[in-house]
Amino acid sequence: PIVPVILAGGQGTRLWPMSRTARPKQFLPLTGPTSLYQQTLKRVSDTERYGPAVILTNAEYRFIVAEQALEIAAPLAGVLLEPVARNTAAAIAAAAAYVATHVDPDAVLHILPSDHDVVVDADYWAAIDAASRAASSGRLVTFGIRPTRPETGYGYIQTGDNLGEGVYSVARFTEKPDLETAQRMLDSGDYAWNSGMFMMKASTFLEEAKRLAPQTLDAARKGVEAARSDLDFVRLDEASFAAAPDISVDYAIFEKTSRAAVMPVSFTWSDLGAWDAVWDVSEKDAAGNVGVGPVTFSDSERSLVVSEGAHVALEGLSDIAVIASEDAIFVGRLSDAQKVGPLVKRLKTEA
Ligand code: GDD
Ligand code: MG
Repeated sequence: PIVPVILAGGQGTRLWPMSRTARPKQFLPLTGPTSLYQQTLKRVSDTERYGPAVILTNAEYRFIVAEQALEIAAPLAGVLLEPVARNTAAAIAAAAAYVATHVDPDAVLHILPSDHDVVVDADYWAAIDAASRAASSGRLVTFGIRPTRPETGYGYIQTGDNLGEGVYSVARFTEKPDLETAQRMLDSGDYAWNSGMFMMKASTFLEEAKRLAPQTLDAARKGVEAARSDLDFVRLDEASFAAAPDISVDYAIFEKTSRAAVMPVSFTWSDLGAWDAVWDVSEKDAAGNVGVGPVTFSDSERSLVVSEGAHVALEGLSDIAVIASEDAIFVGRLSDAQKVGPLVKRLKTEA
């Protein structure tokens, strides 16, 4: 069976003030009664395809990760705890090393971000099955989404040769381009967005990491070898793991490897990166407003208001985001939602 590997260690700063360091967005019920992390677990619950999941997260989130899995009775193969955040290259390397020793070096891993909204349908499963076959044959498979705007927060994949079964080689992978480059790639029509989901054998990833990111691999491997069991958790060894560079898998591996392949997909996908994306996937009233919690709209349009307690009324405004958590309130333009990231950085340094 495929081994699901769920990345649940990000901080989700652009969804402030709902997403906080202590309770980041993947653990919030942003699109329905269950959290995005729980929806991710459900997506890999089909036991005909998948074995139990391996979760990678920061030590700080261990209880919420275990509790939310228990709530929906999702079986876990292991919860690996990162003592310090070293980004996705080190997290995936640790998962690959763990699965290679504890499950099977040639097990196919399905790496999933824990904070995406995905509509699972027949197209989705057809893509997963074809990608899993390409992964078994030694490819590092990405899923390509048709781009709709010059988004600078994503990776861009230029498709190369047809490898059969709907899978293509990757001619070039460009992580987080500047706006001008993103616009050029969008206009050319040959590029797909990287969905952030990957499939590959543990052994394939370990071989590529050894060549392209030896320091990351060494730190992750030693972190796993010297790990300490604590209840149901596996605590990666701090001194070893901390030596990993802080770099994402996109820069460390996918921009460099020649073994990448892309499976272009048409299923509905959204990285709920910022409030505009949450508005995008939510049900709207006739004026295009989304209200979550005790909220009243009057003569307002295309706005998002989320409240955890206080009743919020919006009068005569459009393109506004109001996010009222228990102890902090954000008000800004919905179309400038990306600016919350840098704003939160400032709040952290000023606090
Ligand atoms: N365990 C662990 N440890 N998880 C992490 C860490 C970490 O240090 N850092 C991030 N994550 C998790 C996040 O919670 C998220 O689920 C996933 O890894 C991806 O990290 P992001 O920080 O959200 O990446 P991104 O959105 O900037 O970029 C990635 O996703 C895009 C699509 O959403 C890249 O793969 C892009 O190429 C891609 O287009
Ligand atoms: Mg993301």
